[in-house]
Amino acid sequence: MQSNLATLLQRAEEGKYAVITFNYSDLWDLKGIIRAAEEERAPIMVAAVPAIVHNHGVKFIGGIAQAAAESSTVPVVPHLDHSNSVALCMDVIDHGLRSVMIDASHLPFKENVSIVRPVVEYAHARGVHVEGELGRIMGANWEGVFVDGTDYLTDVREAVEFIKQTGVDSLAVGIGSGHGFYTETPHLNIERLSEIKAATGAKLVLHGGTGLPEDQIKDAIRHGINKINVGTLIYTSYLTTLKKTLDSYEDQNYSLSLFDEAVAAVTEAARGWIRTVGANGKA
Ligand code: 13P
Repeated sequence: MQSNLATLLQRAEEGKYAVITFNYSDLWDLKGIIRAAEEERAPIMVAAVPAIVHNHGVKFIGGIAQAAAESSTVPVVPHLDHSNSVALCMDVIDHGLRSVMIDASHLPFKENVSIVRPVVEYAHARGVHVEGELGRIMGANWEGVFVDGTDYLTDVREAVEFIKQTGVDSLAVGIGSGHGFYTETPHLNIERLSEIKAATGAKLVLHGGTGLPEDQIKDAIRHGINKINVGTLIYTSYLTTLKKTLDSYEDQNYSLSLFDEAVAAVTEAARGWIRTVGANGKA
């Protein structure tokens, strides 16, 4: 079923769990994710990065995302992840997505604000949720740009100003998480997270879920994270299983059974995360 993200995030905050966002690439991993959400009775977000939207086309992504939400028995919010294009955000909104992330975190504060604000105006006039980002998420982003260094932390005063000046509904924060597999154990800066939460009272988002230690995930939720994004685990569960299945694939007319095991692997990966963030039973 279609759902309102603001309500889902508010319920998560009150219930001390997080809404989980999974990245998908096509119909099959989307199916695996939604199956996990239905079996676990969890509200869920399904997110496409711009490369996926460009490949399939905005109309197609808007169509399958909406169909997935409408045919599902749990709340599903289709989302555009990490768009640095204002035009793409507007385009997917016109094609039915109910939540977008406009990410200009690589730019100085003022430019970030000036890119995010028009998206918020456009989205809010249509009842759509907007996520912005301040600070940096480490690792490789979808454009293949690798972010590292030490100045990734979100500044508390800037966060307050950013929310005031842009009107974003939620904020992705840089507190030490990174996209892709971690090469060494990450250490989330929970103190900074608490400060941002206390100063802004905003709904906060943690990116780079794959590989984060469970105790740190729970600590982050306790200290103000309302939504967590997981992508790499979904992609790799899907493709490594598909690769194995392909080796033993016998000729037949349809690809249907070929994907069974890959879809099941995605469902199990998503199920684990739904339980970790405490979203099971919350639909
Ligand atoms: P991972 O790929 O590291 O799980 O991060 C996903 C993400 O943050 C998407 O926005």
